[in-house]
Amino acid sequence: MSDQKIIAVVGATGAQGGGLARAILDDPDGGFRARALTRKPDSEKAEALAARGAEVVAADLDDVASLKAAFRAAYGAYCVTNYWEHFSPEKELAQAANMAEAARDAGLEHVIWSTLEDTRKWVPLDDDRMPTLMERYKVPHFDAKGEANHLFSDRGVPTTYLLTAFYWDNFIHFGMGPKRGEDGKLAITLPMGDEKLPGIAAGDIGACAYGIFKKGREYVGKTPGIAGGLLTGTEMAAALTRALGQEVVYNSVPPEVYRSFGFPGADDLGNMFQFKRDFNDSFCGARSLEESRALNPALQSFDEWLDRNKEQMPLE
Ligand SMILES: NC(=O)c1ccc[n+]([C@@H]2O[C@H](COP(=O)([O-])OP(=O)(O)OC[C@H]3O[C@@H](n4cnc5c(N)ncnc54)[C@H](OP(=O)(O)O)[C@@H]3O)[C@@H](O)[C@H]2O)c1
Repeated sequence: MSDQKIIAVVGATGAQGGGLARAILDDPDGGFRARALTRKPDSEKAEALAARGAEVVAADLDDVASLKAAFRAAYGAYCVTNYWEHFSPEKELAQAANMAEAARDAGLEHVIWSTLEDTRKWVPLDDDRMPTLMERYKVPHFDAKGEANHLFSDRGVPTTYLLTAFYWDNFIHFGMGPKRGEDGKLAITLPMGDEKLPGIAAGDIGACAYGIFKKGREYVGKTPGIAGGLLTGTEMAAALTRALGQEVVYNSVPPEVYRSFGFPGADDLGNMFQFKRDFNDSFCGARSLEESRALNPALQSFDEWLDRNKEQMPLE
């Protein structure tokens, strides 16, 4: 027990960190122990983790002292921010800086930073094919994560920069599921044209991260990209049709139409999909199904994920 390496899991009550916490808890002889960080140790999710044997520790990403205490004596940490809680890239950057600072302070041997592309490397701010948002971003929730990479490297923290992918769970929890149009048909609406969208079961992200920790130092300094499938809108609609037993069509809209939908973050997501569409080779090329499966042999395909989750899909 004592020679088990502690992984401090930020977001352990959430999708990404939860997948990692479960992967560690499901493999008691794997050499790792899960320390679950949360602002709410009394929450149902935190208590469920404690009941399964995780060490639950109170910490807040806005409070560097709490992170330093929570990372102490750990071997590694999984670091993730939740942009959609506050819609602030500056807050995301500050929270990443706090995690990097705490990781250096604790002398962690391996940090996985859940990151995404800084799209401004492909679409500079003066490129008007998509609007600049919040004065200095193209895709705020991507750009801040990519910009934050250097906060870890500048501090000399041994870091794996993990490029994640679109959660298929967005079809259930993020309002992106099939919706009935005026013609009565179910449709998914994405501004992806005929390009492929790398996607993943959210829980598989943490399982891939576990595979990275198990590889020792092999992934330190690397930027692996993970996905469970690369599917076009038409292919996803066909899979949804099979799984749900009723026709789902793909409604491809221009990014500017998606940006105008008016829900919070529509402009950010419209730019995000346009980036994925317009730089599809680069975006897909950065995510490897083979490597993802090697890290996580139980990696789900879209069909497998649908079989397990179709009942939860709200069909509006
Ligand atoms: N949706 C997608 O398709 C997608 C794809 C790739 C990347 N992402 C990124 O994934 C991130 C969200 O990750 P997720 O889906 O795993 O989140 P989630 O399921 O919504 O859960 C958020 C987690 O973050 C923790 N957290 C948030 N603020 C915190 C703070 N100040 N201090 C401590 N813990 C905090 C929460 O812990 P407590 O509430 O217990 O404290 C919770 O465990 C976003 O930044 C998003 O951009 C999303």
